Amino acid sequence: MKITKAEFAGSSTRVTQKPARKAPEFAFIGRSNVGKSSLINMLTAHSKLAKTSQTPGKTQLVNHFLINDSWYLVDLPGYGYAKLPDKDRARLRHIIWDYINNSEELVMLMVLIDSRHDMQEVDLRFINELGEKGIPFGLIFTKADKMGTEALQQQLSKNKGRLLEDWEELPPCFVSSSVKGQGKEDILNYIGSILQTL
Ligand code: GTP
Ligand code: MG
Repeated sequence: MKITKAEFAGSSTRVTQKPARKAPEFAFIGRSNVGKSSLINMLTAHSKLAKTSQTPGKTQLVNHFLINDSWYLVDLPGYGYAKLPDKDRARLRHIIWDYINNSEELVMLMVLIDSRHDMQEVDLRFINELGEKGIPFGLIFTKADKMGTEALQQQLSKNKGRLLEDWEELPPCFVSSSVKGQGKEDILNYIGSILQTL
């Protein structure tokens, strides 16, 4: 699938405030700073569509981007940023789960994991919560350009092995680099294949 048009459609903190026009939504979530906004920019080839930052906690709202006039990419705030005051973390958690629990157009969540690191407790807890609620999700291992090929494969195997301790089978998994454009075709083709089934 090719993205020919991508435009900002609105920010919200409550699902009742999301853009009036309804269309299938694919939302990106993951720990703060994992590269959600950068990946949306890479996939849409718009370097400034979603705001990115070296400082964790940049995205604080649910941001909808209308793609090809027919579906949305949704940039969510990050979870698990330890340095945020408790009340700010609770506020973001509320925004995230209000969207996940109540957005009727949400087709699937893409959970981003930094491919350099072991999956953390906060990632596993989040994924298991999706499982309990029956919310479809895939995984994208980000920042692959920061690893050598062999180390990357080792870390991927380790993380997939950890997932298989809790899950009978793996969800769809992708590897990405927003710097190198890695994963773009695979991720977009996958989203395209899901859109065709709707
Ligand atoms: P929050 O909105 O704060 O939750 O973060 P985010 O997950 O949206 O991350 P963002 O896209 O803002 O990226 C965080 C930092 O990681 C930025 O400095 C990006 O330039 C960098 N980054 C993101 N993706 C990649 C990647 O694939 N490779 C490399 N080398 N750096 C990346
Ligand atoms: Mg962001």
